[in-house]
Amino acid sequence: MALTILLKNRMAIACYVVVVTVFIAACASTPSDADVASALKTSFAERGIAKLDRLDQSSLQNLCSKVAESGKELEPAVREKIEHNLLAAIPYPQDGKYLGDWREGEKIAQNGRGLQFSDLAGVPNGANCYACHQITPQEISYGNQGPSLLKYGKIRGVVDPLGKEAEPIVKYTWARIWNTHSMNACSGMPRFGEAGILTPAQIKDVMALLLDPASPVNK
Ligand code: HEC
Repeated sequence: MALTILLKNRMAIACYVVVVTVFIAACASTPSDADVASALKTSFAERGIAKLDRLDQSSLQNLCSKVAESGKELEPAVREKIEHNLLAAIPYPQDGKYLGDWREGEKIAQNGRGLQFSDLAGVPNGANCYACHQITPQEISYGNQGPSLLKYGKIRGVVDPLGKEAEPIVKYTWARIWNTHSMNACSGMPRFGEAGILTPAQIKDVMALLLDPASPVNK
């Protein structure tokens, strides 16, 4: 009897030692960036139009990940320089026309298809804006990772989106949608123009959804 208890205790202690050792070993060997990248790449398979290069970060995304991992934020001077350079590279519409049709914009904002392995190349992409934003009051299903865009133009005082007065907010919105990193270097929003997700014509339609006084967003 006494011998069995002793043996059991010894086994329990042995198990404990093994668990603690494994735990310490796991903590001591933090995987390198290269380990994580290769684990990610071996976990996915290329299918259709979705290739593994989707997992490659841009140098800016890589910098933002590193800064986030360290629990810090980008140095203000570095952040300003990045945003300044990206803003300078935004291609604004040559014809000066920023707004398309808000009805088409609503369809694009609702559409989460495009660029998936099951999509065909060449089919226009959706933007899935509702995944992250509230937009029209009629749509009650939306994500909240991004701020609400309800009354976007109205609360910014846009009466005539084609007028001179509205120009700063119109240009801001275009740049924000084209390449959000020009406004917030480590933004979590997709770069709809810069990454080729939406065409300039589609961005004009989404612009109208946010800025046209006739859009349900501004009612
Ligand atoms: C994956 C989530 C995500 C998607 C999809 C997304 N956004 Fe955003 N958006 C954000 C986040 C987060 C912010 C604010 C913080 C930041 O800068 O990243 C933001 C900010 C914005 C802003 C700036 C708001 C302000 O008050 O200055 C606008 C405008 C905007 N988004 C429009 C859009 C439009 C239009 C679409 C679709 C074409 C879209 N977003 C899709 C996440 C998203």
